[in-house]
Amino acid sequence: MEFILAPKAGFCFGVKRALDITLKTAKEHAGPIYTLGPLIHNPQVVQQLEQRGIKVAEDLSDIHEGTLVIRSHGVAPDVLEEAASKGLQVIDATCPFVKKAQELAKKMQAEGRLVVVIGDKKHPEVAGIIGWTGNRGVVVENPEEAEKIETGSPIGVVCQTTQPEQNFEETVRILQNKGTDIVAHNTICHATRERQDSAINVAESVDVMIVIGGRNSANTKKLARLCEETGTPTYHIETAAELQQDWFKGAKKVGLTAGASTPGWIIEEVKRKMEEMTNRDEGMNMEKALQFKAFHPGDMVTGTVVQV
Ligand code: F3S
Repeated sequence: MEFILAPKAGFCFGVKRALDITLKTAKEHAGPIYTLGPLIHNPQVVQQLEQRGIKVAEDLSDIHEGTLVIRSHGVAPDVLEEAASKGLQVIDATCPFVKKAQELAKKMQAEGRLVVVIGDKKHPEVAGIIGWTGNRGVVVENPEEAEKIETGSPIGVVCQTTQPEQNFEETVRILQNKGTDIVAHNTICHATRERQDSAINVAESVDVMIVIGGRNSANTKKLARLCEETGTPTYHIETAAELQQDWFKGAKKVGLTAGASTPGWIIEEVKRKMEEMTNRDEGMNMEKALQFKAFHPGDMVTGTVVQV
């Protein structure tokens, strides 16, 4: 049986960076350490962080002392101000790509533009970006919503980093007919798209596809859906314990991918279990595939085993 690991799989740059910053903070800071919401959408990682004393708070009002780590999604400036006013030490692990979108939104707001954020209204990253406009920006999810915008001001556009390129382009096309003029910044991070393309390519060439990642991880669920849509039987698992021998019956090629919030050590565990299950003694092609080089800042670290 042949095994193929998608060339782009697992942690993206921003998630890996946020996890590294959090672990470093836990080593260097005495006192309780909190994140606002889970640091990443992977229950196994969150559990291990908890074992190291890093707690998840749902709201700032639940934190009374210690250190607050800001996740890769970023937050609005009033959250940072409130944390500082409570005497908390703030460690900002906002992904630099998200930071860039926040800064652009703030700048365009200061220039007198109506800031339009293209993205998911419920996503914390989008809420954070809107916060940097002093909550005066608006969110549109698609071209239909953009049609409803009415303004006599110039428009400034940024978008959620994980948006599909096509939605950004089509929505901007509609916004071009609104306002007095428009400046649109494409703030999409290509890590998501490249993971998707890579997963589809592998799924199209194998008999069975395994997708690893949290069931609460939107990007992992999307990967599983895209793989399924290729017609290849696809299984979404969180850990190696969920693998079933039956899945591989009669399969000649098995593909593997992982969401941007899946750590290298879980990918390794799955790989090992698959080796055991399929009784291979010659090893997988994955060894090589796990050692990717950075191609884009949002793509690297897929093969790094992070011991948390
Ligand atoms: Fe950052 Fe892109 Fe990941 S924006 S958090 S590197 S998906």
